Amino acid sequence: MGRHARIAQLARLEEPGLQVADLGCGTGRTVRQLLAYEPALVHALDHASNLDDDLLHDRRVSSRIVDLDHGLPLPDASLDRVTSLNTVEHLADPVAHLGEVHRVLRPGGLLVLAHSDWDTSLFTSTDDALTRRLVDLFVATVPTWVDRADGFMGRKLPALADASGGRGAPFDVLRVDSWADPHRRFDDGSVAYKVAVGMLAAASGEPELARRATGWFDGLHRLAEADQFLFTVTDVAVVLRRA
Ligand SMILES: C[S@@+](CC[C@H](N)C(=O)[O-])C[C@H]1O[C@@H](n2cnc3c(N)ncnc32)[C@H](O)[C@@H]1O
Repeated sequence: MGRHARIAQLARLEEPGLQVADLGCGTGRTVRQLLAYEPALVHALDHASNLDDDLLHDRRVSSRIVDLDHGLPLPDASLDRVTSLNTVEHLADPVAHLGEVHRVLRPGGLLVLAHSDWDTSLFTSTDDALTRRLVDLFVATVPTWVDRADGFMGRKLPALADASGGRGAPFDVLRVDSWADPHRRFDDGSVAYKVAVGMLAAASGEPELARRATGWFDGLHRLAEADQFLFTVTDVAVVLRRA
């Protein structure tokens, strides 16, 4: 089972007719898995418009362009479930954001807050020391295409939930889960490729390292072609119930 299906499963959507939101939905990979449980409506919220066309035209999906740093455009206690994957590292104040999620969830409603912990990125490569150096650089660098990032966010989720309670938006922690899916592909649609591109970008300021990183990247292609490639990253999910 992949990460998006796991998150949908953790959201406990068996009861029919639920109102759900996915925050920072991207192309809608989690939205697609949520729909398999037949909720009444999935609000797909993101500040970019990248939702896949079939989801945009699905009447069970309400797509909205929203800056999550400016709150959620939803009434109090209007949602049964909220999911979020790999979004909070980009937000200015993740604790304030959880306060907003608390506001829009009905009492007893669930938030599945999930994040990859990029510092745990594992690549098969022919140069382990260079891989380690590039991962370290990657998690210490904010890519130019985002406002902010935190390569250690996965491990921080339990503390984030706790901090939300400290600011008057308490959640009960029902479950803390983690997993690392095996990824064998290295093509431009793969998770491994996207992370490796981030690593190349992080190395671009140091010419000698950038040259070695390009060779490393090409090596990943060759390993994948030879069926020797593996990428994993630890994903963490906390299942929180609005108190
Ligand atoms: C790494 S992507 C994850 C996408 C999706 N959740 C997934 O796992 O496939 C992060 C998403 O958060 C969105 N995002 C980042 N900052 C945001 C903000 N301030 N408001 C709304 N969306 C934001 C981005 O546009 C992007 O779609």
